[in-house]
Amino acid sequence: MFPLLSLVLLVVGASAFAPGPLRFDDATIAKVKANMMNISTHSWELGAEAQALTELEVPSLSVFSNNRLPPPQSPSLSVRKTASDVFNIATTIVRAMPPNSTTLIDGDGAAGDPASLGVAVALTGWTLTDRSDQSFSNAASAQLNHLLTAVPRNSNGAISHREDQVQLWADFVYMAPPFIAYEGALSTGDTKINLLQEAYNQCQEYREVLRDDSGLWQHIVLGTGGLDSTHWGTGKYWHYKLLGQNLIVLSGNGWAAAGMLRVLETISHSDVASTFIEERRNLTRWVNEIVSSAWPHQASFAGKNGTLFNVLDDPNTFADSSSTAILAASTYRLAVITNNHTLIPFADRALQLIKNSIDQDGWLLNTVDPLTFNTPSLPGAHSPEGQTFTILLHTAREDYLTYISQLNNH
Ligand SMILES: *[C@@H]1O[C@H](CO)[C@@H](O)[C@H](O)[C@H]1NC(C)=O
Ligand SMILES: *[C@@H]1O[C@H](CO)[C@@H](O)[C@H](O)[C@H]1NC(C)=O
Ligand SMILES: *[C@@H]1O[C@H](CO)[C@@H](O)[C@H](O)[C@H]1NC(C)=O
Ligand SMILES: *[C@@H]1O[C@H](CO)[C@@H](O)[C@H](O)[C@H]1NC(C)=O
Ligand SMILES: *[C@@H]1O[C@H](CO)[C@@H](O)[C@H](O)[C@H]1NC(C)=O
Repeated sequence: MFPLLSLVLLVVGASAFAPGPLRFDDATIAKVKANMMNISTHSWELGAEAQALTELEVPSLSVFSNNRLPPPQSPSLSVRKTASDVFNIATTIVRAMPPNSTTLIDGDGAAGDPASLGVAVALTGWTLTDRSDQSFSNAASAQLNHLLTAVPRNSNGAISHREDQVQLWADFVYMAPPFIAYEGALSTGDTKINLLQEAYNQCQEYREVLRDDSGLWQHIVLGTGGLDSTHWGTGKYWHYKLLGQNLIVLSGNGWAAAGMLRVLETISHSDVASTFIEERRNLTRWVNEIVSSAWPHQASFAGKNGTLFNVLDDPNTFADSSSTAILAASTYRLAVITNNHTLIPFADRALQLIKNSIDQDGWLLNTVDPLTFNTPSLPGAHSPEGQTFTILLHTAREDYLTYISQLNNH
């Protein structure tokens, strides 16, 4: 029933648009990737980039592969070779850490963002040829301890996204819980269970505060400065003045959905997955809640070309290709996990839109202006997240196509 239904939906979704296979071509992805690597500099950009490169270049080590966690400590030479971009980012980060630093990189006041590099660092340490080199695992442990013990928490247990006050940002869910879960997957015994549980708890506690009746998540809640209860897609805005404060902001429902998917898959591929059956069901529901609440906005507005808007439920804001890409990626990922293909036509429209939004040099257009945060990008201005989310959309789409073809072969 479902495979058949999905095929029908797939055909309907694809045929409404341009002819040709609905996927990115390799040459485009190569350019998008090169640009991503060129302009990603901030902690969270590097963390997201490392995840995108893992999914693109060494998918067997991604939590979205069907492989069990932890991964082998001695991957094959070819895996090692294709993982070199990821290992290089982690190596650069760890070698640049000041002595005794408890965070992987300066987060400019953000507690969650440096942790986004944690998975790449932990993975690099786990697979090092030189088993005596503890620098990566020590760096990851220090970051984990910092997050769990030194950062202030909300009364419900949620770890703050900021170092100096309790403030919850939707972004956090992509930056920290996937790393906490991954450290759990690399651990044993009670530590493994406790860390996987903590990663789940953070998702639950963030949702408890940020989600509202629309099913969507607010951007920033609690604390002072930067309060923003609109439903940001992802938004991309550096160092802008808001309520009199300089903040580094970037956020949204896309981060939350994509982060919870990584936590879910990390738990599901661990050898204690059966301990977390209800938690996995909840994570699945919560991702579905976001994407199924977001996509109805896709068709409501002028243009109707598949885009979502910067504030998802406000058609007076502008089209934001970045958030459209990450939500589409999450929708493909979720469908593979649930075998529910109801939302695929929305993701297909979004993918077509993203394809149409990439210029000949491999830049994603129609992202958020990095300086003003509430207007579209100016000509010539580019978004690191936009590049990264395009890669995440590509890898999610390719995995979805593989999944569909396997269904059809059975
Ligand atoms: C990054 O872009 C600049 C400007 O186009 C270019 O000069 C430089 O070679 C690029 N660097 C990398 C690593 O691609
Ligand atoms: C780092 O920690 C070690 C002991 O853990 C200590 O001997 C050393 O002085 C510390 N270095 C700095 C720069 O704080
Ligand atoms: C699952 O979510 C529901 C509602 O969101 C909550 O009541 C329940 O406690 C959660 N289960 C676990 C194991 O956390
Ligand atoms: C999609 O529509 C939005 C406005 O609704 C527009 O800003 C954007 O440029 C369009 N994108 C493409 C690729 O046509
Ligand atoms: C599939 O997903 C859609 C969208 O979230 C939902 O409305 C529907 O109930 C789901 N179907 C099943 C069988 O779970």
